[in-house]
Amino acid sequence: MSSFEFFAPCPRGLEAALAAELRDLGAHAAITVGADVPGGVHFSGEWSAAMAANLHSRIASRVLLKIAARPYRNEHDIFAFALEQPWERWFTANQTLRIDVTAIKSPLRSLEFTTLKVKDAVCDRLRDKTGARPNIDTAEPDVRIFVFVTATDCTLYLDTSGEPLFKRGWRLDKGAAPLRENLAAGILRLTGWTPDTPLYDPMCGSGTFLAEAVQQALGVAPGVQRRFGFEKLKSYDITAWQTLKVAAMDKARAARGANVRDLPIFGSDISGDMLEKARANLARAGVPTLSLKQLDARNMIAPSAAPGILVANPPYGERIEVRGRGPRGEARPTARSERGVRGERGGYGGNARGDDDDAPRGFERAHADELGAEFFLAFGSALKQHFAGWRAFMLTSDRGLPGQLRLRESTKTPLYNGALECRLFRFDVVAGPVRRRDGDAQDGAAADH
Ligand SMILES: C[S@@+](CC[C@H](N)C(=O)[O-])C[C@H]1O[C@@H](n2cnc3c(N)ncnc32)[C@H](O)[C@@H]1O
Repeated sequence: MSSFEFFAPCPRGLEAALAAELRDLGAHAAITVGADVPGGVHFSGEWSAAMAANLHSRIASRVLLKIAARPYRNEHDIFAFALEQPWERWFTANQTLRIDVTAIKSPLRSLEFTTLKVKDAVCDRLRDKTGARPNIDTAEPDVRIFVFVTATDCTLYLDTSGEPLFKRGWRLDKGAAPLRENLAAGILRLTGWTPDTPLYDPMCGSGTFLAEAVQQALGVAPGVQRRFGFEKLKSYDITAWQTLKVAAMDKARAARGANVRDLPIFGSDISGDMLEKARANLARAGVPTLSLKQLDARNMIAPSAAPGILVANPPYGERIEVRGRGPRGEARPTARSERGVRGERGGYGGNARGDDDDAPRGFERAHADELGAEFFLAFGSALKQHFAGWRAFMLTSDRGLPGQLRLRESTKTPLYNGALECRLFRFDVVAGPVRRRDGDAQDGAAADH
């Protein structure tokens, strides 16, 4: 049996979590985990290691087979390098192709031109060996080649995943700002959560943390509902794959009948629409629908007697606003109502030039900021009062969150939500008096800020 080298990319900040997860996959296939580098983890093993990682990794974004690596100086070197590779071993000229080039600090002048050169090299190679050239299909290719270029070296990878692995196949209903499934799964791993510990997401939106947690608790493989790129490669060993897949399907079938009362996993959100999406997503993820509550997070109380882990990515920035009633009982703007309110203000706040838009929008933003600040203060209070003994993890791009909550974080871990740089703040909520900024103590429970 041959051994191959693989690279599994993942959201930045989750490399160590992914390396630990890949080590745990030893139950499904022999995997030797190598170095984790910014953006992913190297590992090696037989072909079954790639199949198992695709099926079972909750954190990897893809699994790439390393074809070859070599120093280069320019696009022509990369063309010659790609032309030498025995692509005919992996796929045929009847299959469609997509090439992606990623470069870090490279001297290449145009990535588009480099992509074209690699495409030409692969197509020329196939034509020379088989008499036919493959077609390009950037939307739904049969085969994807990834080229990774640094200042000095070029590495060619063949993708074994197809669609990225965070596409589990269960999400149809997205919220306004859903988390990627593999980022949610990685965060769960960073929290140290285990299925016997209570887990609560008080702003669960479309239910990404919940679906990932329930699937993990019930041992449902994240990839059980989807197809993979390796199924289209010549090396596809259908018998070995069926063995892995049938075992995963048996587990998934058993999960459908699991008793939801045995799962200490809880979710709530202020939006009934979002809860509907979460329920639909949980149903499609093939797990029992949890009992989800419609609740303003400022009014939350601990959902279990035993302390556990609270996890959330609260609303932030332009993409999604805090909702609920303001301190004086006024409704907070939502994406839809905000437009209506803006229209009304334009009616009396406009000027003769008709350029009345900026002032009301600035006013709206200030108003939303004020409501947001009030929300986080009240949310922090609810944490202190009702969650003593819990550990709370919050993912946000707002570095001022601990100040807004009046809580001091125990740790903060940089993580990327797509291109957005975020922090995962951890707060250990301890019983004790809350010290106000003016120095007076008041009753409650808190890690003081
Ligand atoms: C960034 S989204 C969370 C996305 C979620 N993790 C997912 O994967 O879909 C923030 C969520 O906070 C909810 N939210 C806004 N204000 C709230 C409030 N006052 N109480 C509870 N939830 C609120 C929104 O409805 C939204 O679903």
